[in-house]
Amino acid sequence: MNHTPVLLQEVITQLNPQPGEIAIDATLGLGGHARAILDKLGAGGQLVGIERSQAGLELARENLKKYQNQLILVNDDFRNLKKISEDHQLSKINIAFFDLGLASWQLDTGYMGLSFQVDQPLDMRMTNPTDDLGQNPSLWTADKQLAHLVRTYRFRPAAEIVNSANQKELELILREIGGVRTSRQVADRIVKARTEGNITSTSQLVKAVKSTSPKLLAPIFQALRIVVNDEYTAVAVSLPVAWNMLSAGGRLAVISFQGNEHRLVKQVLKGLEINKIKRILPSEDEVEVNPRSRSAQLRIAVR
Ligand SMILES: C[S@@+](CC[C@H](N)C(=O)[O-])C[C@H]1O[C@@H](n2cnc3c(N)ncnc32)[C@H](O)[C@@H]1O
Repeated sequence: MNHTPVLLQEVITQLNPQPGEIAIDATLGLGGHARAILDKLGAGGQLVGIERSQAGLELARENLKKYQNQLILVNDDFRNLKKISEDHQLSKINIAFFDLGLASWQLDTGYMGLSFQVDQPLDMRMTNPTDDLGQNPSLWTADKQLAHLVRTYRFRPAAEIVNSANQKELELILREIGGVRTSRQVADRIVKARTEGNITSTSQLVKAVKSTSPKLLAPIFQALRIVVNDEYTAVAVSLPVAWNMLSAGGRLAVISFQGNEHRLVKQVLKGLEINKIKRILPSEDEVEVNPRSRSAQLRIAVR
């Protein structure tokens, strides 16, 4: 399994971890960024690594074995950051880091039906449905219909959206969340295809859409994943919690990967009345070596 950490050097320079500090990595993944942070924190420091995917957490545990005495691993969704911090008696922290989205291995293996390239049941649920259902999607969208749709379909299998949402609803999700330009056409095709039977697998969805273009399929799959895991609500709820946990001089870093996500992070940070938010993009060299970094944006704020 591999995952090349994005903007690694920039993250470490900006977060500037010091010996003995306490850090939260809210999206541990395979622990690439965490390892570099742990190196700087030294034996007296501590990192709390949160990862919603149990399989991912086990991979990180193995990768970070060397640091086990400095590490607390939590299999949870960062939307529960407040509760996690209470459970682990973390009141003040020095560093909070979010690297949003998926790890490469999740796409490569078609984990939970996330990839249009691997035939799997159309599920995409990566988070525990018993999570706090009180969190409200209207935190990030003023569109009442979209908020209602997310509330209806979050934590449900992706197939349920594809088979139950009507044409207009599908179009709205694809356009507003996935940024799919031909959202009406795609929604039409899905509605037509499902008259011949439910769409239950990733390959059936690809067939329904009648396209093999990653440029179209990637945002369609992304939109479904974001709704199923209610990812934008998690960001809107958790960045303020993390910010308020930072001690004076504490650093918050967030990497986002697509247009709506960039806007959301910007909007949430702006709402916190942070004086200065620094934005850093990957270098040309990094994009060449790791094309996944192309759309990444790093935002940094110091408390
Ligand atoms: C881009 S990867 C992080 C990679 C990591 N920085 C590394 O260097 O290996 C994002 C990870 O965060 C996890 N994740 C995404 N949203 C999450 C959430 N709301 N709560 C907890 N983990 C989440 C994903 O499962 C994935 O493993």
